[in-house]
Amino acid sequence: MTNVTTLDLVVDALYIVAFGLFIYGLMGLTGPKTAVRGNYIAAVGMVLAVVATLVKIAPHTTTFAWGVIVVGALIGVAGGVPSATKTKMTAMPQLVAFFNGMGGGTVALIAWSEFITSGGFSDEASGVAQIGGSLFGAIIGSISFWGSIIAYAKLQELLSGRPITIGKLQQPLNLVLFAVSIAAAVVIGVRSGNGGADWWWIVVLLVAAGALGVFVVLPIGGADMPVVISLLNALTGLSAAAAGLALDNLALVVAGMIVGASGTILTNLMAKAMNRSIPSIVAGGFGGGTTAAAGGGDSGDKQVKATNPSDAAILLSYANQVIVVPGYGLAVAQAQHAVKDMAKILESKGVEVKYAIHPVAGRMPGHMNVLLAEADVPYEALKEMDEINDEFKRTDVAIVLGANDVTNPAARNDPNSPIHGMPVLNVDEAKSVIVVKRSMSSGFAGIDNPLFYAPNTTMLFGDAKKVVGELIDELKAL
Ligand code: TAP
Repeated sequence: MTNVTTLDLVVDALYIVAFGLFIYGLMGLTGPKTAVRGNYIAAVGMVLAVVATLVKIAPHTTTFAWGVIVVGALIGVAGGVPSATKTKMTAMPQLVAFFNGMGGGTVALIAWSEFITSGGFSDEASGVAQIGGSLFGAIIGSISFWGSIIAYAKLQELLSGRPITIGKLQQPLNLVLFAVSIAAAVVIGVRSGNGGADWWWIVVLLVAAGALGVFVVLPIGGADMPVVISLLNALTGLSAAAAGLALDNLALVVAGMIVGASGTILTNLMAKAMNRSIPSIVAGGFGGGTTAAAGGGDSGDKQVKATNPSDAAILLSYANQVIVVPGYGLAVAQAQHAVKDMAKILESKGVEVKYAIHPVAGRMPGHMNVLLAEADVPYEALKEMDEINDEFKRTDVAIVLGANDVTNPAARNDPNSPIHGMPVLNVDEAKSVIVVKRSMSSGFAGIDNPLFYAPNTTMLFGDAKKVVGELIDELKAL
């Protein structure tokens, strides 16, 4: 029996408190009002877990290793704090993808380090959990790192957001890369405690898994991107849990499993909301396609009708019910406060105002909820897609503010549309539709939107905040 020291007890106690804080913090993330507090609580838990780990390793840590830890922590703080505080809300998904990639990359590096320091696991002391955890972490961590970097590049528009494929070779190549990384893991596993594997086996494993991450994410475009980011998040969590097994660190196992489990649930929910299965997303190619991208002005013989703030204000003020449909452009324009003010004026004129929230409107899960909560829009006025979709046909005016893909009726009626099958808000069924955006440009999926040419639609061109401000002036003057 191993001797349990006071130090072990202190570390375990700190870990248990940290786990409690992770879970309590996560519960806070279930609603916009408690989300910020939840985040702080989980962050305190993470500080405790780090302190406990440092206490745990202190007795056998050299001065040089302390130096590496301090320098690493300083680099992390110097890079993480400014990017987290300065990044705009609209660029959060890229930041999340990047941070997520760092997590996966760290796990892959831990596996590399474990492999090298144990002489390719030649050491008999390396147990199954350590070797299995390291190899699983190496594969998943490498996939997650490279996949997240590609997702970052797509969201940051360094790479095209549309699917990038290599045609029919795509699936066979992915299968080969997967098989090579598994084969390398098997060889390393078999040679463990038996002379150890040569160093290049881990290189083969990491390169094949990394290439798999790249080739799985490259063909994913448009509407599937949110699901993939969430999937990569879940993978990073699972790889961290595996690294926890390899390092015999309970905190890493628990934190990794929390991320892995919650990421998996979120991925499932988002895939369901998009009417997609995860295997078909990973198999690639959805969300881009060849439908003509919206260009500037009328496309072909399709005509758009432009309106002005004065006419739009009259239409709004005579409505019984108005549904506001917010999208990414509302976040870009930061028009949430102006929208709340406009709704207040309409309500004072006896108009009922509701907000239709699509699960992937904007660029991150819950983006519209957070944005509107910031302007103190009552939570009860926000209606989820399933709840509000039937109401559009009974609605006098739907005003679309910087939304595009999530209102595209082609997803319902055009089997050739790249987003066919994705549930959308049935905005086109409203008696009148006012679309506020700056031009005829496409949205994230890069495809045309027939809603803009519909007979009941008028376009009100301009920045959402400016246009809503003008609508407020007109409404006040009525
Ligand atoms: P989008 O389809 O991306 O359309 C946004 C529209 O906003 C654009 O067409 C743009 O047109 C307009 N816009 C931009 N700036 C504006 C401004 N200052 N004022 C007024 N309009 C402005 O947005 P959506 O309908 O919210 O759909 C979200 C898309 O992002 C989906 O395809 C979804 O799959 C994808 N996505 C979502 C997430 C999550 S989790 N929510 C994550 C990654 C990707 P103009 O340039 O003509 O103004």
